[in-house]
Amino acid sequence: MTKAGLFLTFEGIDGSGKSTQARMLADRLRTQGHQVVLTREPGGSPGAEEIRRLVLEGDPDRWSAETELLLFTAARRDHLERTIEPALAAGKVVICDRFADSTRMYQGLSRGDLRSLVDQLHSLMIGREPDMTLLIDMDPETGLSRAKGRQGTEERFEDFGPDLQKKMRAGFLALADEFSDRFRIVDGNRDMDSVAKDVTDIVQAALR
Ligand code: ADP
Ligand code: TYD
Repeated sequence: MTKAGLFLTFEGIDGSGKSTQARMLADRLRTQGHQVVLTREPGGSPGAEEIRRLVLEGDPDRWSAETELLLFTAARRDHLERTIEPALAAGKVVICDRFADSTRMYQGLSRGDLRSLVDQLHSLMIGREPDMTLLIDMDPETGLSRAKGRQGTEERFEDFGPDLQKKMRAGFLALADEFSDRFRIVDGNRDMDSVAKDVTDIVQAALR
């Protein structure tokens, strides 16, 4: 595993603490001497960051569900080619804030049932899963209030409301069951340091 690098992803509903935990894990692994690439989706390469603006800014009805799926997939393909695969080939640990599981949830579930289309496109254009996925499980109301506390222009998805957050949380837990070999569930309803300790313990075991 170490020689070919290690590909870790964080998943969970908006505001669950993924970015915070991804950053804390990256810092911890770096102090232990690992070479770490901390990245995110949508984005993570110059081209994919441009696509990020197209999908996260502007009117909620800006794209049809299918077009949106193509844009997220295009961004992921570029990110994979230019950032993730070269880092893994160099033996680095790649920590990615969201990846294909987010597409399975958001594009697959939120605007009708597009899961089968998501899976087909994934196998055609991406064809890779993380070595390990940390699902930060979180009470939907708390997640929503944390996410809404942030200011910014990336608001296309943030008017989803509590019902969709609940559906997403249940969907992520079902996904963890579906891909139980790579998913680890961490309780995010605690202070940052307690969550980070669990995350570190899980990842250390994988690195050994
Ligand atoms: P995500 O990337 O999942 O949307 P963030 O890491 O950006 O979540 O966290 C959302 C907000 O909640 C941020 O303001 C962050 O500082 C705060 N936060 C993150 N983890 C915790 C925690 N365990 N307890 C309280 N607040 C947290
Ligand atoms: P992100 O910046 O991780 O937001 P947050 O910190 O609030 O979790 O992601 C932005 C939004 O993009 C988020 O609402 C989920 C959505 N998204 C998709 O709809 N599909 C995807 O494939 C990805 C990666 C993200």
